[in-house]
Amino acid sequence: MKAFFHDSYGSPDSLQFRDLDVPSIGDDEVLVRVRAAGVNRGDVLAVEGLPYAARLGYGVRSPKNGVPGADVAGTIEAVGSGVTGLQRGDDVFGWATGGFAQYATAPATMVVPKPNRLTFEQAAASPTTGVAALQGLRDVGRITSGHRVLVVGASGGVGTFALQIAKAYEANVTAVCSTRNIDLVRSVGADRVIDYTRDDFTHHRDDFDLILDLVGKEPLSSSRRALRPGGTLVVVAGGNPRSVTGMGRFARTLRSPFGRRRLRPLFSTKRPEDLSTIGELLETGKVLPVIDAVYDLTDLPGAMNYVQAGHARGRVVVTV
Ligand SMILES: NC(=O)c1ccc[n+]([C@@H]2O[C@H](COP(=O)([O-])OP(=O)(O)OC[C@H]3O[C@@H](n4cnc5c(N)ncnc54)[C@H](OP(=O)(O)O)[C@@H]3O)[C@@H](O)[C@H]2O)c1
Repeated sequence: MKAFFHDSYGSPDSLQFRDLDVPSIGDDEVLVRVRAAGVNRGDVLAVEGLPYAARLGYGVRSPKNGVPGADVAGTIEAVGSGVTGLQRGDDVFGWATGGFAQYATAPATMVVPKPNRLTFEQAAASPTTGVAALQGLRDVGRITSGHRVLVVGASGGVGTFALQIAKAYEANVTAVCSTRNIDLVRSVGADRVIDYTRDDFTHHRDDFDLILDLVGKEPLSSSRRALRPGGTLVVVAGGNPRSVTGMGRFARTLRSPFGRRRLRPLFSTKRPEDLSTIGELLETGKVLPVIDAVYDLTDLPGAMNYVQAGHARGRVVVTV
C-alpha cells in the first residue's frame, strides 16, 4: 500500500511517501480502507515530536508509529476474530493508527458508522475536532441552555464545531474571528461576532458564562474579566509546543482554583461514546463539518504546512 512514513522527527516535508505492507490486525481490531483522513494540528506536532515531553508517548528516540494520522473515514476491509457489530464493507469513521495511508488499523471500539448524509471527507473532518469541542463545552464548560458562550478562534476546525454544538445546546453564541471569516461563522450559527482586528473580547466585561479559548493569545487574567461571576474559561490552546512540556498556559489555570470565575484546561480524550454523540449530531444535521481544503494524500506535507500556518477555515482533509 501507499503511505507516508517517518523514522525520525522533523518537519512535514521530511515525511517519505512509500510502499509498505498492509498492516495486520489484532483480535479486537478492524482494518480500514481509508478514503479520507483529517489533518489536525496534533498530527503535525506528532510528526515534529513536539512538545518534547510528548515523545514519552510518541516514542523517545524515534516515532513508534511510522505512519502518522489518526482521524479517518473509510470502509472496513477486515475484522478481527473478537469483533462483533462491524463487518467487511461497513462505512465508518473514527480514530485509527497510521491514517495517512491506503489502509489503517483501529480498535473496533474507536470507529462508528459513518452517517449516510456525510461524505468521507466530512466524516474524516469530525472525530478529533468534534469531540474536543463537545468535551470542552459540555464536560469542562458545563454548558446549559441560555448560556452566553464565547468561542475564541471560531473559524477553525474546532471552532466551527463548537459554534454548532453550542447552538444545539440552545446557547447564545458569540464568535471571535477575523474580518474575512465573519460570514463563515454566521453561517454556522454565531448570534454575535467580535472581529478581533477591530475589537478586543477582553474589553467585554462580565459578559459570558462560558469562554472556549481555542487561540490562547490573551493573558488569562484579561480573558477571565470577560466572564460573568460563576462563569468558566476553558483553555484549549496556547501552550508553546517548543517548550519541554507545552503545558505552561494549561498549568497557569491551576494557580487560581478558587474564585467566582473559573479557569479550566481541556485535555480531550478519545472516548468512543463521545464519538457516537458526534455521529448522532451529524446524522440529524444539527452539526455539519466545515471543510476548508481537500488535498490528495500525495500532498500531505502541503496540507500539514497549511494547517500549521494557523489560518485554516474549518478542517483540512486528504483523500486517499
Ligand atoms: N486541549 C485539547 O485537548 C485540544 C484538542 C484539539 C485541539 N486543540 C488545539 O486547539 C487549537 C484550535 O484547533 P483548531 O484545529 O481549531 O485550529 P485551526 O483550525 O488551525 O484554527 C485556525 C483558525 O483560527 C483563527 N485564528 C487565528 N488567530 C486568531 C485570533 N487571534 N483570534 C481568533 N481566531 C484566530 C484562524 O483564522 P484567521 O487567521 O483568519 O484569524 C483560523 O480560522 C489548536 O491549538 C489545537 O492544537 C487542543
